[in-house]
Amino acid sequence: MKKTTAFIGSAAALVLVPGLALSDPDEDSLTINGDIPIVTQTDAPAHTENLSEIYSGWRFRSDETQAFQMDDFDNPGMIGVENAAVDWETVDGSAGKSCANCHGAPEEMAGVRAVYPKWNEEMGKVTTLEMEVNNCRETRMGAKTWKYTGGDMTDMVALISSVSRGMPVNVEINGPAKETWEQGKELYYTRTGQLELSCANCHEDSYGMMIRADHLSQGQINGFPTYRLKNTKLNSVHARFKGCVRDTRAQTYKPGSPEFIALELYVASRGNGLSVEGPSVRN
Ligand code: HEC
Ligand code: HEC
Repeated sequence: MKKTTAFIGSAAALVLVPGLALSDPDEDSLTINGDIPIVTQTDAPAHTENLSEIYSGWRFRSDETQAFQMDDFDNPGMIGVENAAVDWETVDGSAGKSCANCHGAPEEMAGVRAVYPKWNEEMGKVTTLEMEVNNCRETRMGAKTWKYTGGDMTDMVALISSVSRGMPVNVEINGPAKETWEQGKELYYTRTGQLELSCANCHEDSYGMMIRADHLSQGQINGFPTYRLKNTKLNSVHARFKGCVRDTRAQTYKPGSPEFIALELYVASRGNGLSVEGPSVRN
């Protein structure tokens, strides 16, 4: 039998309380360090069917949380960026190379964050930044791969993101990436777990509402990696996905799995036009 229960009738509606004054994203604007203007609101890309405007998660946070991201000296995520800058210069592995030996300064990575996940012709699949980093470590450096959501990896992704801040997210969804994108879209709209909730139920149908004490955003990933005040560390996209799936009381996919890669491409594409913000700060 087909489930036609409206979202509001599901078990989770019990924890969703429509916000009163808080229901919409706020009107604040973000400029980092006084010189990197960040687009936190823009027209939704044509391929998003049920949204007219898209918003960065920053717009749903309190003024106190927002303030952390306005200046790199106050952004605790920048410590991860500094750690990665050391790794970037450090020779590791049997080939006796560092990232810097081949790629030059980290600034050479400007623009890269904005277009990932991306089809990799050589590998014949869509890759994430984490996969690219590990591919370089393994095949080009002869070094040990990093754990997908590990600290070294997330710091490195934060470094690579930081040099693209302010650039518009622009992932390619057509061409060879199309099939992966379709798979991600399917996952986004599939209800899972005991609560029978999809990503869309919370982040498309209900953004702006309060869920327990939290102001629901559109679940955009332009700000990743994200420093969360809750766990006081940088969090990768797949770690966040895992937490959200677990909140629906469903079995979750593994970080780095084909399912989460597809979901990342799809979710990233919903943010095409917002600025790269990572490392961002959220609660
Ligand atoms: C021996 C040379 C070499 C080393 C060392 C190396 N890379 Fe690479 N890397 C490449 C080549 C070649 C490519 C593919 C062509 C390109 O995009 O530049 C690549 C691609 C990448 C990409 C994708 C770039 C894009 O434009 O899509 C990232 C990200 C990356 N490397 C990160 C790293 C990091 C981080 C390290 C150190 C942990 C590292 N690489 C070490 C040679 C290297
Ligand atoms: C029960 C509701 C619920 C469901 C279902 C849910 N999330 Fe979330 N999600 C939240 C809450 C609450 C937060 C924290 C507040 C916020 O940023 O929206 C959050 C945060 C996020 C963030 C961080 C946004 C930012 O700006 O840092 C991302 C990304 C995200 N969710 C993606 C997903 C994806 C993908 C799915 C489906 C696999 C999903 N969520 C399912 C409730 C949900």
